[in-house]
Amino acid sequence: MGELHIFDHPLILHKLSVIRNKETGVKVFRDAVSEIAMLMCFEATRDLPVEDVVIETPVATAKVKQIAGKKLAIVPILRAGLGMSDGMLAMIPNAKVGHIGIFRDPETLEAVEYYCKLPADIASRDVILADPMLATGGTASAAVRFLKKKNCACIKFMSIIAAPEGVERLQKEHSDVDIYTAALDERLNEHGYIVPGLGDAGDRLFGTK
Ligand code: URA
Repeated sequence: MGELHIFDHPLILHKLSVIRNKETGVKVFRDAVSEIAMLMCFEATRDLPVEDVVIETPVATAKVKQIAGKKLAIVPILRAGLGMSDGMLAMIPNAKVGHIGIFRDPETLEAVEYYCKLPADIASRDVILADPMLATGGTASAAVRFLKKKNCACIKFMSIIAAPEGVERLQKEHSDVDIYTAALDERLNEHGYIVPGLGDAGDRLFGTK
């Protein structure tokens, strides 16, 4: 079973209170989403391998630790995932970035990939897939499926707010994917919105409503 990591860091909790508030405007919302994603990278990269390296400080020779050349990719799911990618890149500047766009066919209810541009060497990279809202889990699960078809073997999913329904579906359909979320909310409402949630993340990030 993929592990579920829920954050309780005061900085993240405070920024969450800002983005949940309906009075928060686009700029403050966008900045806070980016900052939360940046802070979450601390935990999502905790298992990166490190190696000993010998360097010279101004005072002496020192044996230090460096990340052992692990190749990472950040893959935001369009469009709201874009709000997380700058913050993640601030922490992992050498990561490559792919993009996946998915919509739900209203007739078949199947997830359809309408855009997919990934680093050519994606199969050899550990992937952090990002979407601020893990609601039904349908999009997240489809995105993981597409990445697996491209032979990605190590995928983590990062959201800012998750619903229990989405967590359950992602864990059921992809038991090898660890989930990182800043908050696990109560439920989905009849319109598929997370309760209490923050509303439509894409609209709030891009000011489209
Ligand atoms: N997508 C959103 O942007 N918000 C929700 O609450 C659920 C899905």
